Amino acid sequence: METSFQPKILAFLCNWCAYAGADLAGVSRLQYPPNIRVIRTMCSGRVDPLFAIRALKEGFDGVFVGGCHIGDCHYQDGNVYTLKRMDMLARLLDISGIGRKRIRLVWASAAEAQPYADSVTDFTASITASGPLDRSRQTLALAGLSRALATPRLRWLVGIDRQVTERSNVYHEKTDTAHFQRVMQEAVETEYHKAMIQEIISQAPANVRELAEKTGLPVYTVSLRLNDLERNAQAELRGHEGRTPRFAAAA
Ligand code: FES
Repeated sequence: METSFQPKILAFLCNWCAYAGADLAGVSRLQYPPNIRVIRTMCSGRVDPLFAIRALKEGFDGVFVGGCHIGDCHYQDGNVYTLKRMDMLARLLDISGIGRKRIRLVWASAAEAQPYADSVTDFTASITASGPLDRSRQTLALAGLSRALATPRLRWLVGIDRQVTERSNVYHEKTDTAHFQRVMQEAVETEYHKAMIQEIISQAPANVRELAEKTGLPVYTVSLRLNDLERNAQAELRGHEGRTPRFAAAA
């Protein structure tokens, strides 16, 4: 099917590998779609997942991250952290309904001009097939993603992943990777739910049913998340409407 949609894609490329690969692709006159706008970073590890959400909020339809192959990072293991962060971002995008298809992580060395060009071509085709990101319907989701990605809990979990799954502690204990992944998934879901609720009540007080309607969450889940927020002094009871309590962001 013919489409006139031309996606806007933002790429973050590490200086030493992916950017050099992209440069070589240009010098070699390899053909690939011109939809991509590049930001050069010294390492893919510099790319905070919040950058990707900001790009989606500001008009891009997809975000591409390119770095050195694992083991080749010029800052030892910056790209390993990139992998962990992008995995967390992908989970959040799936939960939000936007979907992980909006992001792509690719390793490309300075000599891999063709693989780089092929990856860009493939990602552009995928985003074109998905269509433009409908920001008007994703306002709450995008705001929730930004809030969730900024939470100390998720940032700490991503940071501690390798320490607890790859190295043992003083008692020679290691956390099973599958167990850690379950913990991460639960944390990602919980923090995203709370972030959406926070976003809504930061604008105006709301009751549990209203929050359930706006977030699409079951009433029971909203109540649990509100309890969490109240315990952490992030939400508070702000009066009643009849006998129905209303909640607002804590002052
Ligand atoms: Fe390229 Fe770290 S220097 S990913």
